[in-house]
Amino acid sequence: DLYAVIMAGGSGTRFWPASRTARPKQFLPIAGARPMLAETAARMEGLVPFERILVVTAADQAQLVRDCLPELPAENLIAEPVARNTAAAVALGAFEVARRDPRAVQVVLPADHHITPVADFRATLSAGADEVREHGGLLTFGIQPDHPATGYGYIEVGEGLRGKGAHRVSAVSRFFEKPDLERAREFLGSGRFLWNAGIFCWRVDTILEAFARYMPDMHATLSDVAASDPRITEVYPGLESAPVDVAILERSDQVRTMPIAYTWNDVGSWAALPDLSAADSDGNWRRLVEGAELISADSTGCLAYAEEPELIALVGCEDLVVVRSGKTTLVCPRERAQDVKLIVEALRARG
Ligand code: GDD
Ligand code: MG
Repeated sequence: DLYAVIMAGGSGTRFWPASRTARPKQFLPIAGARPMLAETAARMEGLVPFERILVVTAADQAQLVRDCLPELPAENLIAEPVARNTAAAVALGAFEVARRDPRAVQVVLPADHHITPVADFRATLSAGADEVREHGGLLTFGIQPDHPATGYGYIEVGEGLRGKGAHRVSAVSRFFEKPDLERAREFLGSGRFLWNAGIFCWRVDTILEAFARYMPDMHATLSDVAASDPRITEVYPGLESAPVDVAILERSDQVRTMPIAYTWNDVGSWAALPDLSAADSDGNWRRLVEGAELISADSTGCLAYAEEPELIALVGCEDLVVVRSGKTTLVCPRERAQDVKLIVEALRARG
């Protein structure tokens, strides 16, 4: 049976002021009407029922997960005492699945991507599950890159192994997590690389063998201490903190890739929102809770976000981001949305 493990313990700052340490992106209704985590779970409908969906998150985000996913069985919420990056989250989730079914196939998903159309996404995951059920391996899903992004993993596509068309499977000759700009340009120019979508599929015994080999200490600790064991709070902080991409995928020679047959957006900043939905008749985008309002005069290309029933008014504005959250207002040009990190840094420095 197919299991889904959703990694939902990240803490981003690129959606400041709406995202804060206490409420990161996956809990915000950024891409649609529901929080991104709820959308992620809903996308599994018809493929993986809630009894086989596990969510791995930081203990202090557990309540947010419960609020977001009331259908999730309590024992499927795996709380990490502290965040130790995605390698530990993947290992903890894999051991939990293995306890239920040692040869289960699992997909591992980030909680904060926007994906459409959902039917094509499910078809890709089903094909991926069939591939690893029969042939093993660590399957990543690859995206055709169109610019030298430095925030993604790069997959060098090797020999074609199986299948044709949308669900063909190729060997991966190299996995390189988040190259610098120069290297990203080189990878893009070579035409041999795909971006890693950050979604994985493997048999649980395959990934646990990889942990035993490449992260033996982590494997030994977590095979001894389950997430529900009270000793987890003592041992977890001592685990090595590394992304699964670096800890496992860069090292393993069992990585395979399948192209995605759907549109994917990792919703990296406020500037990504206009790509996800239609504009209103003035050419502005609204992310407003019920009761909130945007009134615009001679304004276009703007994004308005409000979490309270309140009014945002724009006069003669073009291509601005306007975000209202709590007692904070952010205004910036759309093309500078990445730079909200400057504010976050300044606030941190102030203490
Ligand atoms: N439980 C848990 N614990 N979840 C975590 C932790 C953690 O310590 N750290 C991050 N996550 C969750 C995030 O909430 C997100 O859903 C997912 O794991 C991926 O983490 P990101 O921090 O968003 O990774 P990234 O975007 O920098 O890089 C990954 O995704 C890219 C595609 O978006 C990599 O897999 C790249 O190779 C890939 O290209
Ligand atoms: Mg991400």
